[in-house]
Amino acid sequence: MAIKDVQEQIIKLKKEKDICILAHCYQSPEILEVADFTGDSFALSVEASKVENKTVIMCGVRFMAETCKILSPEKTVILSNPDAGCPMAEMIEPELLAQVKEQYPEHTVVAYVNTTSELKTLCDVCVTSSSALNICSKLESDKVLFIPDINLGTWIKEQLPDKEFKLVNGCCPTHAKMSKDDVLKAKSAHPEALLLVHPECRKEVVELADYVGSTTGIMSYAKKSDKKEFIIGTENSIVTHLQLECPDKSFYPLSKDCICHNMQATTLVDVLNCCKGTGGEVIELDEDVRLKAKHCIDKMIELG
Ligand code: 13P
Ligand code: SF4
Repeated sequence: MAIKDVQEQIIKLKKEKDICILAHCYQSPEILEVADFTGDSFALSVEASKVENKTVIMCGVRFMAETCKILSPEKTVILSNPDAGCPMAEMIEPELLAQVKEQYPEHTVVAYVNTTSELKTLCDVCVTSSSALNICSKLESDKVLFIPDINLGTWIKEQLPDKEFKLVNGCCPTHAKMSKDDVLKAKSAHPEALLLVHPECRKEVVELADYVGSTTGIMSYAKKSDKKEFIIGTENSIVTHLQLECPDKSFYPLSKDCICHNMQATTLVDVLNCCKGTGGEVIELDEDVRLKAKHCIDKMIELG
């Protein structure tokens, strides 16, 4: 069967069954084409709170499907591929966070949305890469305990010198792979190119960037720029999407290894099977966990 035929089946089934497909922008072009909404983590969270369909298929990773279920408990929320987790979301156990919180009782606990629902129950507000700076700057408290990404936390901390930040040692294994050495090699191969990176990258990479932002931030910066060449320091799917959308510009990956196997786990056939009711995983959350986790996502949407 051709890709186009699978896509047609998905489009037919989603209309018949009142399904909405949400896809993170790291998904493949053939999945983005059948999605009702695509975007970065923040945009997907906002969309998840507004969707009116009976069923939502989340093409992304588990914490994104959980966020959707937290906001819309009455809907059937399906994670497109049950194996698609986010290693960073599971880096801190709730017990450990509870201990750290005891050491810093005056700190507002800010959680990157890339966290499990259980961890969110212990936090005050969530942020995404595109909303973190804005939300942290609006917090009443000048003491922040930021979990779990040390790289995003460091980037925010440096822009808000009036606040005191405590960071923990989590990171995204995909983005943290890239080093200053990768930057120097890429810049020497493409001396005219601008370097656009995600704030999940290490400080030594972020410091050399011309622009730092979320996945959609990087995409819109590259599209609007007058420049013609760009080195992209985020998941390599973004290099492909940008090259397809801007054929007159050139995009180079900062590293050939910047691939998130979890984000790439979902196939178009997985999406079809979710629509047929034979694939994916229906997300179920304990109601107590859902309610406790909801307040920090609501707060993110309100402040963001
Ligand atoms: P954004 O969608 O916030 O850019 O984050 C990228 C990411 O790693 C999602 O897991
Ligand atoms: Fe998690 Fe990093 Fe993959 Fe995003 S890119 S899903 S943060 S491992």
